[in-house]
Amino acid sequence: MSEGNGKIRPATQIVVAGRRKAWTQGVVNPPVWRASTILFDSVADLRSAVASPNDRLYYGRRGTPTQWALADALTTLEPGAAGTMLYPSGVAAISVALMSVLRPGDELLMVDSTYEPTRAFCRGVLAPMGIATRFYDPLIGAGITDLFTEKTRAVFLESPGSLTFEVQDVPAIAAAAKERGIVTLLDNTWATPLYFPALAKGVDISILACTKYIVGHSDAMLGSVTATPEYFEGLRRTTYQFGQHVGPDDAALGSRGLRTLDVRLRQHQAGALEVARWLETHPGVARVLHPALPGCPGHELWKRDFLGASGLFAFVMAGGDDAARAALIDGLEHFGIGFSWGGYESLALPVDPAPIRTATRWRAEGPLVRLHIGLEAPADLIADLKRGLDRFTAGR
Ligand SMILES: Cc1ncc(COP(=O)(O)O)c(C=O)c1O
Repeated sequence: MSEGNGKIRPATQIVVAGRRKAWTQGVVNPPVWRASTILFDSVADLRSAVASPNDRLYYGRRGTPTQWALADALTTLEPGAAGTMLYPSGVAAISVALMSVLRPGDELLMVDSTYEPTRAFCRGVLAPMGIATRFYDPLIGAGITDLFTEKTRAVFLESPGSLTFEVQDVPAIAAAAKERGIVTLLDNTWATPLYFPALAKGVDISILACTKYIVGHSDAMLGSVTATPEYFEGLRRTTYQFGQHVGPDDAALGSRGLRTLDVRLRQHQAGALEVARWLETHPGVARVLHPALPGCPGHELWKRDFLGASGLFAFVMAGGDDAARAALIDGLEHFGIGFSWGGYESLALPVDPAPIRTATRWRAEGPLVRLHIGLEAPADLIADLKRGLDRFTAGR
């Protein structure tokens, strides 16, 4: 049980969770324990550790209080969870979560709007193992039932899609899957458990690229998977079998980032909404894809299911080509050009969903630009975008 796991609000939970006195000895931030070998007092002591390796120091790969504190805190944020496993990246978390539920001969239903490396894992690892992947329309909702076959073992969701931002009907898909004994896995990186408590919405396995908002400062790679009692033991076993481990320094950065998640997300949300609303008014912009704005596919579901919006969204340029988009992005002063997101800094990225999709077609009036809105003053970001978009429209 987590300390502070009573009926307190999530904003308080992220401050107190995982800080068990037995792990911290009173130090505010769980200290960094560096360990491989753990020394036992006797052979009997070693044997007793072998008998219950999950709840005591055993071997570095199984973690120390540094990793346990973060895992415990993330479990606390997902009511209904049995536990959390940590991974050295978001992609590692996705891969091991899938491996924990799939066997040769199974079929996986994968959302068409998913993060590209998740697709690559299906293609490069699952397919050669005899696990087939079928891609489905992110807006399919309860209609997913029509895709189920005797072989369907798992449904993977990412809501909203991290390039094109379609919001999925997660409760409807989870309920349809549950009825057939099919497991659901959600990449919940965009919302985090603060804005979308995934297990409470019916999902079995919730995955975070903690690299983004949990770490929050663009200085560590980290992933997590949180599961219900039905799936947690299988997840833990598979994680151990793949030898997955997170170094204590990265786990400590994750724990430290988590403490300020609520306040950072609120600022990301406010800044992103201000910028997104302004973009809607500029003639150089055809469409803004932000789950909290009516133009975004699935916006009504976002209103119904989410407790907030984070700082990542995209806009479609009103015409122009790849060169015009590159000129726009290159000319921005306050937006870095780089992968990832969720740090305190703003980013702009050219994204091209069309060649990636297989179940749906991506059509747009112009090139797509993905923005991550950091913690800078939104007025400075808007002024920067205005200069770039004014140049774009003047040159058309
Ligand atoms: C939605 C989503 N899931 C997973 C990942 C993978 O996380 P990581 O980069 O930590 O492997 C990313 C990274 O960009 C992402 O955007």
